[in-house]
Amino acid sequence: MASPQPILPYAAPRVGVRFAGVASQLPSRVLSNADIATIVDTNDEWIFQRTGIRERRVCDRAKGESNRWLCSESLRKALINANLPAAELDLIICGTISQDLRCPSTACLVASDIGAGTAAAWDLGAACCGFVYGINIAHDLIRMGNYRNIGVIGCDTISAIVDYTNRGVCILFGDGAGAAVLRATDDTTKGCLAQVNKADGTGWLDLYMPAEQWQIPDNADRTQQRVGCLHMNGKAVFKFAVSTFQELIAETLAKASISADEVDVFVCHQSNMRILEAARERFGIPAEKLHTNIDRVGNTSAGSVPLVLDELVREGKVREGQKVMFVAFGAGLTWTASLWQM
Ligand code: UT7
Repeated sequence: MASPQPILPYAAPRVGVRFAGVASQLPSRVLSNADIATIVDTNDEWIFQRTGIRERRVCDRAKGESNRWLCSESLRKALINANLPAAELDLIICGTISQDLRCPSTACLVASDIGAGTAAAWDLGAACCGFVYGINIAHDLIRMGNYRNIGVIGCDTISAIVDYTNRGVCILFGDGAGAAVLRATDDTTKGCLAQVNKADGTGWLDLYMPAEQWQIPDNADRTQQRVGCLHMNGKAVFKFAVSTFQELIAETLAKASISADEVDVFVCHQSNMRILEAARERFGIPAEKLHTNIDRVGNTSAGSVPLVLDELVREGKVREGQKVMFVAFGAGLTWTASLWQM
């Protein structure tokens, strides 16, 4: 069998890429573990021990909160932070799998909400990897020279597709969004040093949402899988996540020829506190370098990474000059990492 072609490192860039502005948006309604315990047979102690979650946020439809609203608000604020008018965006990429409308894309609706004129716009369906896949693609498009300003959003409103009678799934997820404005810069030292983007569709059944009955495979347990609801084989995803997380970090470090302690901050998908702890221990990453907010927001799928990023930027913990690694994995199965010189 032919050996796989090595992926070449980036050629000397003619243009750098920088995070010009970052922001996030959470819905207003708090759903605590105690609230969930009134719906299914569970309790705060079990949920916290197994996941690290105390509460999560969910959209309040009566207040007009939706996937589209979270996306538009987060990108609107990121543009303010970037000091860039929306009309100067060349492209909006929206990482989401829980869009309000199947057609058109949320990115198109966001463009209209924020006044982005005729910027190109599309959704990227990579579940929890949506934002990190998005910044990797946006980075390379800017480096190629055809785009200068790209808005990347990560958002999911999993509350709309969660079965609140399934205690193995409903405890985990919350709604939320974050966005980043990536811009071309003359400083060619800034940008992505290494990236990894992977998927293995053979694992699709471990985390999927059947939209119609015929999509549930014949050999699946039909009593466990409801149309319109997310189905998750928690144990299988957990195992995949722990091993993938560690391989991803190792592969990305190797590509950039640096060690884990040269990375200033790890911005990781908040899937489950135990998964994050396993990665931290494996690489000896000190707690202050791997920020967590899963206790307050739960697993927000594509919203997870940019929500953490925004908290870190606001606290001054992610700043220019640092090396920052983004890591995510999720349904698909998909996994991705992105190491940046900020
Ligand atoms: O974002 C990326 C995708 N998702 C993930 O990364 C999630 C990965 N998986 C997980 O985080 C974990 O598998 C869960 C948190 C979802 C579940 O934790 P677990 O340690 O894998 O629990 P389990 O499913 O093996 O269940 C253990 C026991 C079972 O009881 P028995 O059979 O041992 O008597 C379950 O019925 O806990 C029971 N259980 C619960 N008990 C109280 C399951 N869910 C609950 C619950 N409250 N909510």
